[in-house]
Amino acid sequence: MVKPQLTIQLSDTQRIPQVGLGVWQASDTDARTAVRTALEEGYRHVDTASIYGNEKGVGEGLRDAGTAREQVFLTTKIWNDAHGFDAATAALEESLERLNVEYVDLLLVHWPTPSQDNYVNTWRALINAQRNGKARSVGVSNFNQDHLQRLIDETGVAPVLNQIELHPFMQQAALRSAHESMGIATQSWSPLGQGSALTNPAILEVAQKHGRTAAQVIIRWHLELGLIAIPKSVTPERIRENFNVFDFALDASDLSAIAALDSGKRLGPDPSTFG
Ligand SMILES: NC(=O)c1ccc[n+]([C@@H]2O[C@H](COP(=O)([O-])OP(=O)(O)OC[C@H]3O[C@@H](n4cnc5c(N)ncnc54)[C@H](OP(=O)(O)O)[C@@H]3O)[C@@H](O)[C@H]2O)c1
Repeated sequence: MVKPQLTIQLSDTQRIPQVGLGVWQASDTDARTAVRTALEEGYRHVDTASIYGNEKGVGEGLRDAGTAREQVFLTTKIWNDAHGFDAATAALEESLERLNVEYVDLLLVHWPTPSQDNYVNTWRALINAQRNGKARSVGVSNFNQDHLQRLIDETGVAPVLNQIELHPFMQQAALRSAHESMGIATQSWSPLGQGSALTNPAILEVAQKHGRTAAQVIIRWHLELGLIAIPKSVTPERIRENFNVFDFALDASDLSAIAALDSGKRLGPDPSTFG
């Protein structure tokens, strides 16, 4: 049974479920079990990447759950060692083989890696993958506004979304508003701040007020901001908890308490220098 959940219309024809399961730092075995658990709980969106080394486990989890392929929104990413048209095209084939699927729903360029200065050619490979049906939608991750503009200027094709570090301590207001003006959806990676936001007193206060957990409040905050969140967990109770967010809402005072937590400090690398 598909549980009621929120989805967002992308700039192409696809809709993306607003909550997905992240699987970074999960082994093949753990990813397999986590994906199966998540699909059984009602998730219909899974986020992996070739660099995570668990695409095989993710594919096995999809088959274990028995959910019809077309009901699952599956994302993978092209790693930094596969920039350029031919290398990215070959990397996608390898990902599809490991996942054991005919297509992914979303293919992302994982990082712009400006030192290689090759992301426009990589992007052309993704546009081609969408044309030949191997990726239903194509987007990017960790791109700043200049990188996005260059893709649009040089290819005429905007990514459907940009997956960026985004959590209560790193709220990315400027990039979110650039996305909005470019028709690009925002997807939040490390939506729980890799767990660091779960013990914040302001979050805990909001959680107590609603009789929810800190994780649920943070995921709900992403939803209320129109973001797509991909919390990672390999723990069955947490996978369940993180999806139980569609039956409550935050009010203006909750949103302003969380807005005040923004420090602009990254947990991950700076995209303008990484790679
Ligand atoms: N595009 C990129 O460059 C990029 C970079 C980083 C991440 N990502 C994507 O974003 C996903 C999420 O980011 P993330 O894994 O860095 O961090 P996250 O989702 O913010 O936090 C994950 C951590 O929180 C714990 N956790 C999850 N739910 C919890 C709950 N309800 N209560 C208590 N603890 C909970 C998890 O533990 P357990 O697993 O042990 O339960 C794990 O340690 C990744 O898996 C990946 O798919 C993308």
